[in-house]
Amino acid sequence: MHFTPKSVMVTGGAGFIGSNFINCFMPLNPGCRVINLDALTYAGNLENLRSVDHNPDYRFIKGDICDAALVAKLLADEKVDAVVHFAAESHVDRSISGPEIFVKTNVLGTQVLLEESRKHWQSGAVADFRYLQISTDEVYGSLGETGYFTEETPLAPNSPYSASKTGADLLVRAYHETYGMPTLNTRCSNNYGPFHFPEKLIPLLISNIINRKALPVYGDGLNVRDWLHVRDHAIAVETVLKGGKSGGVYNIGGNNEWKNIDIVHLVCDLMDESLGRKKGESRGLIAFVKDRPGHDRRYAIDAAKLKRDLGWEPSYTFESGIRETIDWYLANQEWVAHVTSGEYQQYYETQYGESK
Ligand code: NAD
Ligand code: TYD
Repeated sequence: MHFTPKSVMVTGGAGFIGSNFINCFMPLNPGCRVINLDALTYAGNLENLRSVDHNPDYRFIKGDICDAALVAKLLADEKVDAVVHFAAESHVDRSISGPEIFVKTNVLGTQVLLEESRKHWQSGAVADFRYLQISTDEVYGSLGETGYFTEETPLAPNSPYSASKTGADLLVRAYHETYGMPTLNTRCSNNYGPFHFPEKLIPLLISNIINRKALPVYGDGLNVRDWLHVRDHAIAVETVLKGGKSGGVYNIGGNNEWKNIDIVHLVCDLMDESLGRKKGESRGLIAFVKDRPGHDRRYAIDAAKLKRDLGWEPSYTFESGIRETIDWYLANQEWVAHVTSGEYQQYYETQYGESK
C-alpha cells in the first residue's frame, strides 16, 4: 500500500544521515511537514540543515528522545503520521569505551518513541501512521570470506553499539507483534558522503590527509565493509517509508565491498591528485595500530528484497561518490573545523537563541 506522509517526525535529523535525509526529502515532498527532534550531542550539527532552515514546513526542536512528555506533545501538536527514527549514539569505538549512553539512547530512547507512537497511533489522531526504525547491518554480527546478510540472518551483534541497535530492533518487532503497530525496520551498511563526522573512517582519512596527520588502520586492515552513498540511503528510507509492508525489515546496501586498507589507499591517491601532492605522499601517513576489540571481520548486504519489492537500487557509483565526497570536504573545511572544535554548537545559539 502506498503511503503519503503529511507530517514526519525525524529524530536525529542534525546528524550525518538524518540531515542528508531531510535535505533530500523536503524538496521531493513539498508541503509535507518535517519536525526534526535532535538533542544536539557532539554529533548533531544544525549547519548541516542550511538548505531547509527557512522552509516554513520545517521545524527544529532541541530535545531528547527519552523525554516522553516532549515526544507525546510533538506527535499530537504536529499531527505526526510518520516517525523516522535516526537518533542514536553511532560510533563503535565510543561504545567500547562507554557503553552506558548507547543503551540509554539507542534502547531506552527507542522504547520511549515506540510507546508514545503507539499511544498516538491508537488515539486515532491521524488516519494512517508509520514508525520507521533506522538500523544497521551490524546487528547481524560478522561474516567470513563469503556470504551475505539477508533479512533472515540471525541477529548476533558483537559490539555494545550493535547490541544496543539490536535491542532497539527487537523492541520494534515486539511492538508490531504485540500491538499490531505499523512498523518498518531498515538495516543499512556503512554510509559515506557529506556531513559525516570525522571520527568515522572515510572523513577521518580525508581530514587527516589534509592536515598531514597519521592515518590509523586497525589491525591488519583487511576487515571488509560495504559502502553506500548517504543520499542513496536517504532515498531508500523514503522508498521504504512510502511503500514498505507493515512489520517489514529491509536491508539496504551498496553492493560495494572494500577492504579497509584498499579504501585507505584509494583515498590517499585521490587526495594526492586533488591536493597536487606527489603521488604516494599520503600513503606515507598510514599507521597500523592496535586492533579494535571484537572487530567484526566482514559485512556484506544482500539488498535483493528492497530491489524486488520496492524497486530501489543505489544510483551512485563508488568512484563518483568518493570523488564528490572528497571535493565536498575540501570545499567545506570550515565545517570540519567547526565540528572538530565544537564551535558548531554556537550556530544553534545564533539561530535559535539559548532558551528554545
Ligand atoms: P550521527 O552520530 O551522525 O547522528 C546522530 C544524531 O542523533 C545526532 O544529531 C545527535 O545529536 C542525535 N541524538 C543522539 N542522541 C539523541 C537523543 N537522546 N535525543 C535526540 N537526538 C539524539 O549518526 P548517523 O551516522 O547519522 O546515524 C544515524 C542512524 O543510522 C543511527 O541510528 C545509526 O545507528 C544508523 N546507521 C548508521 C550508519 C553509518 O554508516 N553512519 C550505517 C547504518 C545505520
Ligand atoms: P567506522 O567508520 O568506525 O564504521 P564501523 O565500525 O561502524 O564499520 O569504521 C569502518 C572500518 O574502518 C572498521 O573496520 C574500523 C576501521 N577503522 C580504522 O581502521 N581506523 C579508524 O581510524 C577508524 C575510525 C576505523
